[in-house]
Parts: sequence; C-alpha cells; structure tokens
Amino acid sequence: MPETPMPKSLAQITDTLQDVCVMERVSEPYVLVLFGASGDLAARKVLPALFGLYVRRLLPESFLIVGVARTPYTESSFREKTGEALNAGTLSGSLKADWESFARHLYYVPVEYGSHDSMRALDERLRELEERYGLLRNRIFYLALPPPLYEEVTESLGRAGMARTEQGPARIIFEKPFGDSLDTARRLTRSIQRYFDEPQIFRIDHYLGKETVQNILMFRFANAIYEPLWNRQYIDHVQITASESIGVEHRAGYYDHAGVIRDMFQNHMLQLLALVAMEPPARFEAEAVRDEKSKVFRSARPLDPGKLKERWVTGQYVRGTVNGTEVPGYREEKNVPASSLTPTYAAGVFYVDNWRWNGVPFYLRSGKRLARGVTEIVVQFRSAPHRMFDTVMSEAAGPNELVFRIKPDEGIMQRFYTKVPGSRLCLQQVRMVFSYQGLKGAPLDGYQRVLLDCMTGDRMLFVRQDGVELAWEILDPVIKALSETGFPEAYVSGTEGPEGADELLGRSGRRWRSLLED
Ligand code: BG6
Repeated sequence: MPETPMPKSLAQITDTLQDVCVMERVSEPYVLVLFGASGDLAARKVLPALFGLYVRRLLPESFLIVGVARTPYTESSFREKTGEALNAGTLSGSLKADWESFARHLYYVPVEYGSHDSMRALDERLRELEERYGLLRNRIFYLALPPPLYEEVTESLGRAGMARTEQGPARIIFEKPFGDSLDTARRLTRSIQRYFDEPQIFRIDHYLGKETVQNILMFRFANAIYEPLWNRQYIDHVQITASESIGVEHRAGYYDHAGVIRDMFQNHMLQLLALVAMEPPARFEAEAVRDEKSKVFRSARPLDPGKLKERWVTGQYVRGTVNGTEVPGYREEKNVPASSLTPTYAAGVFYVDNWRWNGVPFYLRSGKRLARGVTEIVVQFRSAPHRMFDTVMSEAAGPNELVFRIKPDEGIMQRFYTKVPGSRLCLQQVRMVFSYQGLKGAPLDGYQRVLLDCMTGDRMLFVRQDGVELAWEILDPVIKALSETGFPEAYVSGTEGPEGADELLGRSGRRWRSLLED
C-alpha cells in the first residue's frame, strides 16, 4: 500500500507545552589538560566542542585549556592552529569576539609522554597557571590519543603524583576503543586503576551524548503510555541501524585491525540496544542507569559458534558510486592491505534472554560506504491480533512502528494507519513526527554534552568498567568465530549492504527498513 505522508504542518509537533528541567548544577573552575592537542581528534571534535560550549556560556567563568602533545608548539602557535581548526578567520561579529576571548584561555606545554621529568614540568606549569588565575586544582585530563598510549600516559601521570591534587581527585577521560578484546580491556583497567579510581574515570561513547539517544530514556520512562507495550507481547522485533556513506577515510591504520564490530558494535550499537532493552531504573542516577544497562548485557544470549551463520553476516565494500561520486573499494583505500579481510559491514541478531524480551530479535547493522548516512532505532510492534480489514482490502495493513531517528533529522516518529478521507474505503499509513527543528533550545552535540557532564562530574553518559567488559564478553566470541570463516561478503559502495543481510531477516519473513526511507 503506498504511503501518503501527512502534511508536515499537521504532523509535526511545533511547540512544547511545559518544560520540566533538571536542577542546574554549577561547575567549578578547572583546568582541562588536553593530551594529543596537536592531533586530528582534538582539532575535529574536542576543541570545536569546547568553543561551542564557550559560545553558549556553558563553561565556568574561570577555566583554562592546556594543550599537551609531543609537537613542539609554542602557546601562540597552538592558538593559531586552534583558530585554523575552528575556521576562526571566517568568524565575524560576536562569534569573532568570542573566539578572541576563548583563545586567551588556551595554553600549551610540549611533553614526552613517558618521561617523568616532562610530567613534573607539566605539573609545575599547571600549578603556576592555577595560581595566576586563582583556580582550584580541579583538573581534567582528556586523552585524545591513540589507545596504545593510554597506559603510558596514565602511568606517567600517576608516577608524577598528578592523579590527585591537594584539592582532590583529578578526572581522566578516555576515548574509545577501550581495549580491543576482553583481555586487553581488563589489562588496561588494571593499569589505570593503579593510580585512578573508577569514579575518576570517564569513558566516552559519544553516541550517548546525542540528543535522541538521551531522549530514549526520557521517552520511555517519563511517559506512561509506551512502557506497558514495551515487551515481547506487543513488540515483534527491534532494528538498530548505523549506516554511513563515508568510507574508512584516513584511519585505515586503526580500522583495518578494528573492523566494524570493534569500531561500532562493541560501543555505540550495544549502548543503543541497552537503552531500548533496559528495565526502568529506580532513580535517575548514573549508577542506577548503568546497573540496568549492565543487566541487559548479562542477559544477552551468547553466540553458539555452530549457529554463526544464523546470527551474523559481514561484508566489505567494493568500488561503487556514493551520492553521485565514484569511490574506491576498501582494499583500494590508502594503507589498506590488498588482501584485507576486515569487515566494513556487519549485521547481527541479538536476543535478550529475560522475562521482558524472550524470543524478540534485536537486529543490529552497521557499515561504511552505504547508500546513506542513517542512524536509527525502529521498534516494530506486532500486527493487530484480529485483522478484520485484511478481508476487504486489496493488501494487508502493516504493523505500527516507532522510530528514534538519531541521524539525519533527529527526532521520533510513530507510524500508524488512518482512513483516507473520501467515498472509497482506503487505509493510509501516516506518520506523527517529533522533530527538533523549530523547537526552542538548540541541541548540544555529543562531544559538548559529554564534556559538560565530565566537568560537572555526572557519569550517566559514560561507560562504566563492567559495561565495557561485558560488551567485549559478548563480542569476543563473535569476532573470533567470524575471523575463522574467511571472506566477508562483497557489497557495492552506495548500496544498502550485502545480500546476506537481507537473508538474515528474510528467513523469519521480516525485512530491513530501507536506508532511503524517511
Ligand atoms: C566512531 C567510529 O566512533 O563513530 C567511526 O570510530 C564512525 O568509524 C563514527 O564513523 C560515527 O559517528 P557519527 O556520530 O558520525 O555517527
């Protein structure tokens, strides 16, 4: 049955009726020490996010950002480089003035990561700046570094006595990936915990900072109407998709070892699954929420390696056309070995073996160089139990769907059927859309959100040690079993992925929601 979208003006929520906000938390003066300050991640994500917070007046009055890296920048060349990363030359008006005052908060110290003397010198410089600006010694260390350096840097910080100051414990932020297996993640934790306790450690998963991802909790637990339906009795299955149109870009060195399962499933995809599947926490508090997520991971059905094919499909992109541009295949990308078997796409079926979800499949898929960049969660409800319209309609009406759209056009959408006005009896599928466009309050991006929360010490959007380890526990056997099967299936860039992924759902009479559907 063709879908007739509702006119946007009718379907969209255009105003909010009532705001209910969390009590404001005041963040204290602090120094953010950015390791890897001359690198790509700092330039692309961290510094723009900090500037974004500054522009919105969300940083505390007194703060300093001290860039740290091996590159021998001076303070003025670091400011200049940061200006380039932020395209400061193109700013005008109040934004230009904001950049100029933001730049005055930037400092730089070149270091050798493993050198004790270098860390002592960094500590000295931090003390000098803290005294000059009257800052409390609240320090945050942000490790925007390649993961192999994590141990070395935490060890150096610890040995230099910087894990704590007279003021109290410092906080330390790690980017993903946290280890590349259960063993390495545990080893890394042991090594970090020689100096930093778990409450000091903030493991970033930037997906958790995305507006619609945070909204899953609010939507599920602030409204009473969905929760009674949120179980095996009413939900047929859940699809979680994170598709990207970009390829491996300049990250082949990391990606060819990681592959899509370590890169996307161990963190973002499983976190989304946990938010959909978790039980209502008793309190809106970091530990209570993270406890519930861990329980979901503990209930995940382990892989029976003999049933690998029923549960997993992997693919690797070959040359094709994405958005009208011809793109090379994965093995033709710079720094990718010509015989690489690394999967750039995976689709898997997960089961959460508990009372609520028994028998409900969660289909997860993620890949690069697909037809479109889409991240969404589709909750597909069961069809109506008695379908009286089926006997008189030319086609059966489909099931209802609830879609959390994380990218692009963040929002939440409910699909349902209504009668088409007029003399003929027809059903039409319509959409009720909640969209952020036009709503008051500009969303924070994922990095801004998690930086802000780290400053205020709110751990809810960070991944706890057990969460990381449980996720590896689920996926280690999958990675091992897949590596023994050899070739991932080839898929043409710009398509919806390998055919095997359609078969994965097709066997149970289901189909993926097309990446091109709105
Ligand atoms: C990162 C992965 O964690 O997430 C990348 O390492 C991926 O490979 C990125 O491209 C996707 O993030 P987003 O926010 O663009 O969906």
